[in-house]
Amino acid sequence: MNVLFKNIKELLQVRAADVSVVSGIDMKVLPTIKNAYLIVQNGFIAAFGSMDDCPRDWRHEVVDAQGKIILPSWCDSHTHIVYTGNRENEFVSRINGMSYQEIAENGGGILNSAKQLEKVSEEQLYKESKNRLEEVIRQGTGAIEIKSGYGLTVEAELKMLRVIRQLKNNYNLPIKATFLGAHALPTAFKNNKKGYVKLLIHELLPIVAKEQLAEYIDVFCEKGFFTAKDTALLLKAGQKHGLIPKIHVNQFNAIGGVQVGVEYNALSVDHLEVVCLEDIKALKNTSTIPVALPNCSHFLGIPFTPARALIDAGLPLALASDYNPGSAPSGNMTQVAALGCVKMKMTPKEVINAATLNGAYAMGLEKEVGSITVGKRANLILTKEINSYPYLFYAFGTNHIDSVYINGEKQDG
Ligand code: NIG
Ligand code: FE
Repeated sequence: MNVLFKNIKELLQVRAADVSVVSGIDMKVLPTIKNAYLIVQNGFIAAFGSMDDCPRDWRHEVVDAQGKIILPSWCDSHTHIVYTGNRENEFVSRINGMSYQEIAENGGGILNSAKQLEKVSEEQLYKESKNRLEEVIRQGTGAIEIKSGYGLTVEAELKMLRVIRQLKNNYNLPIKATFLGAHALPTAFKNNKKGYVKLLIHELLPIVAKEQLAEYIDVFCEKGFFTAKDTALLLKAGQKHGLIPKIHVNQFNAIGGVQVGVEYNALSVDHLEVVCLEDIKALKNTSTIPVALPNCSHFLGIPFTPARALIDAGLPLALASDYNPGSAPSGNMTQVAALGCVKMKMTPKEVINAATLNGAYAMGLEKEVGSITVGKRANLILTKEINSYPYLFYAFGTNHIDSVYINGEKQDG
């Protein structure tokens, strides 16, 4: 696929190849080129610069981007898009006053999704999941992480992970798989958490590793779910099998999970709606990136991750959708970024850094995607004619995307 984009009003997130993540005050910087061109060759970014230097002898396809902006596709480092059925009944219960935790304690929540998932075939699960993947690609996502965790039995967890593998085989954007067997305690192990952790470590993990079904291991480290100690055990076991840790932590309570994540070199610690000074201290000078999930805060009406405290302490921050049936039934990353601006007081430059390059870093994909860099995949968003890039988040709820490209190929709108 060879394409020349010309007359680009502004080309965003233009980076040298050695910039893999941006932290602290550097997040306030978004390098751009106004009135730019961009050349895609064989699916990769081959050249870009000012229109003054645009090649005159181009013989392939040309896209005139007059009045439009180009940015790298969104890199969504935290999703649960493999699921079946919805939970709008719980949505109504919460409107009527029940909390997310109360619903979970009464067999709803993750267990509700697990019950539904157990019954469906792998084919049906694939069909529903691929529709979600196609939906988020249309919304500008060009790299994605997907978790298991609605299986909670050997068979059902493997079913989920095999669906993720099928998605990897059939779609040409980077997809990373995460084994989240420790998402909730299944009913069969209601009074036997030790037994379930044992099953995960000694039965499931070896199969996941042998069949190379996941790159990452995740745990929901939270009161009523898995303790910091359980988390440590699971991460250690995952590492032994070559899986890199990435955890759900501090969603409702700080129970020492961030420290465990750092101790086991987690690539990311996600949620962080509750953050203590000790957590910030623990994350400083580590390779672990905090990931905020504003869709979840918005949808559950819980606090937003204190982005300012994290960034102003010099840390990096990524934004992800958390697309799932319970706490964030949307994978629209432009909307996620808009929430980052409005609710977390992040600037448009910061949210773009958080949802592109830092999101790529949170999936170990920073060499492949996340910025306009020669040699990276041409996974791109071409906006409609808009006045400026902050408008993407200011005029919330409107679709500002003209077209999306994966490996330089225009996707069906
Ligand atoms: O990231 N917090 C844990 N897991 C998911 C939600 C799971 C669900 O409610 O289905 C999350 O928010
Ligand atoms: Fe999640």
